[in-house]
Amino acid sequence: MGKELKHIAIIMDGNGRWAKKRALPRNMGHRKGAEQIWKIVKHANSKQIEYLTVYAFSTENWQRPKEEVDYLMNLPIEFFNRYEKEFASENVCVKIIGNREPLSQVLIDKIHEIETKTASNQGIQLNIAFNYGAKEEIITALKKIVTNNQPITVEQVEENLYTKGIPPVDLLIRTSGEYRISNFLLWQIAYSELYFTDVYWPDFDEKELDKALVEYAKRERRFGGLS
Ligand code: IPE
Ligand code: IPE
Ligand code: MG
Repeated sequence: MGKELKHIAIIMDGNGRWAKKRALPRNMGHRKGAEQIWKIVKHANSKQIEYLTVYAFSTENWQRPKEEVDYLMNLPIEFFNRYEKEFASENVCVKIIGNREPLSQVLIDKIHEIETKTASNQGIQLNIAFNYGAKEEIITALKKIVTNNQPITVEQVEENLYTKGIPPVDLLIRTSGEYRISNFLLWQIAYSELYFTDVYWPDFDEKELDKALVEYAKRERRFGGLS
């Protein structure tokens, strides 16, 4: 690929509607959605993409019914147990970004375990945004800067975001036909190319990612300059 593509971010939307279309409970859509993550990680890794950041649970998703929230809180534990071996064999480094404070101790421990086990893996870095909200991320960063009496600069803000050290998003994908950002990575997508597809996340497979990559290759990125 001619144009640089280091970092892909995905708003994995449409799990509920995918399930509804099949007369299944919403949580079955989340289950299929989690399986889909691994397919896309593997495929992106094979294409030498360095970073993949996926939106799994937003700071606003707590508003959903308790049964669904409980299911979503348990899903990362199942996901990590299921794919731990594959993370090792495919050399995937896993990081979780977001506010961990309200999460259960079991989940916090599991996150810590998977991050530690995969930390030295040199393949793709999978960032899972979980209890993530961009507004909260930016406010937290600014508070830290002010507390430390540092100057408020672009560099300082970036040093204090969850994505510290990670390049900005080149390509942002949202599935399920919604055209919004829903409080995902507001800072990091300042100059991202945006790609929207009607496909529900549980149907978003390798071929769908390839389509997005073809589209990205056609884009002309100017960053405010001239071509
Ligand atoms: C995305 O699918 C997953 C989460 C937000 C946790 P949804 O659950 O939002 O599915 P729809 O949008 O209701 O179809
Ligand atoms: C965004 O999807 C959050 C995740 C994909 C985790 P939502 O389904 O929560 O977003 P809205 O409510 O349609 O904006
Ligand atoms: Mg949704």
